[in-house]
Amino acid sequence: MRSQGNGELIGTSSAIRELIEEIGRIATSDAKVLVTGESGVGKELVATAIHRRSPRASRQLVTVNCAGLPETLLESELFGHVKGSFTGAYRDKIGKLELADGGTIFLDEIGEMTLRMQGMLLRFMETGELQKVGSDRVTTRVNVRVIAATNKSLRDMIIKGSFREDLYYRLNVIHLTVPALRDRREDIPPLIEHFLGQFTRNGHIPKALAPGTMRLLSEYSWPGNVRELENVIERLVVTGRSEAILPEELPMEVRMHSNVSLRPKRERRRTVADDLYKRLTEERESFWAAVYPLYMEREITRGNVRDVVRKGLEEARGNYKIVAKMFNMESRDYKRFLNFLRKHDCQVPFKEYRQ
Ligand SMILES: Nc1ncnc2c1ncn2[C@@H]1O[C@H](COP(=O)(O)OP(=O)(O)OP(=O)(O)O)[C@@H](O)[C@H]1O
Ligand SMILES: [Mg+2]
Repeated sequence: MRSQGNGELIGTSSAIRELIEEIGRIATSDAKVLVTGESGVGKELVATAIHRRSPRASRQLVTVNCAGLPETLLESELFGHVKGSFTGAYRDKIGKLELADGGTIFLDEIGEMTLRMQGMLLRFMETGELQKVGSDRVTTRVNVRVIAATNKSLRDMIIKGSFREDLYYRLNVIHLTVPALRDRREDIPPLIEHFLGQFTRNGHIPKALAPGTMRLLSEYSWPGNVRELENVIERLVVTGRSEAILPEELPMEVRMHSNVSLRPKRERRRTVADDLYKRLTEERESFWAAVYPLYMEREITRGNVRDVVRKGLEEARGNYKIVAKMFNMESRDYKRFLNFLRKHDCQVPFKEYRQ
């Protein structure tokens, strides 16, 4: 198993700050908690944080993954079994619920439990009584705080009849939802820093990010959430060739998927016309020096020139004389400017910019 860092939830977004506050508030109660959220968002970390901040912290936090075990094994895992109760049961075995006595049990992927197991869990939650597999009587009573997690919609499962509504209400006393990483992108830089620190502590050379790398990492959609980010950073630390992590070292999907459409519209890519316009108006270059030669050498198109003129007209409210001034031309060059535009079909009708 990989090291879990210090078990603290890293993040500066309001979503994470609220979550941490909420964890602090509920930790001291014994209320059952249901943690939901996509795969890899940090549900287990939330469960760990609740346990560690609770009065049960000195006792065990026992985790049971309800997925991937056949029903009979899950039953014995949770409740224990007595010797000879099934093939391979050579001795009595204590269940995880008993192991967690006085502490917390974390039932991960609760949505994967069969209806029969759900019934058994519900009975346990109502009574605190454990009946080992193969035993004909209740053997122990325990006091366990239950925290459950799922990335499924239990409500949908209830509608479909695959999750018990009564169990849902038992578990869902407090509901925490951990948002997807793409919905709290401010957390990406602090998480990257955290993981860089964590993995370089394991004997690797400290790494920094080249400027473009952080942008790509911040724009990617992270379908696998924090776990995916953690894996990407680990791979970069281990395999990175240079001191600074370069954009081209990032996995293909990160480089490809950081798509422009994720950006708000107003942050569209700068165009050729934007750059030219900036040279004219901010760097105060003359039209004859900044635009004319590029056009004549066919380095920019007629469309580019028109766009620059359009921007000027917008600013000058349709007045070509002011545009000429904005583009740092002498007043005697005004005619030459208009002639040039006409001759090369770069004119833009000024009327629509008049106010
Ligand atoms: N806010 C966070 N700060 C630091 N590490 C985090 C944070 N969120 C998640 N992680 C790390 O990301 C990894 C995945 O988190 P975790 O196992 O808690 O996710 P999960 O929601 O339980 O995922 P799954 O549904 O796939 O089981 C872990 O290694 C965890 O330490
Ligand atoms: Mg998990």
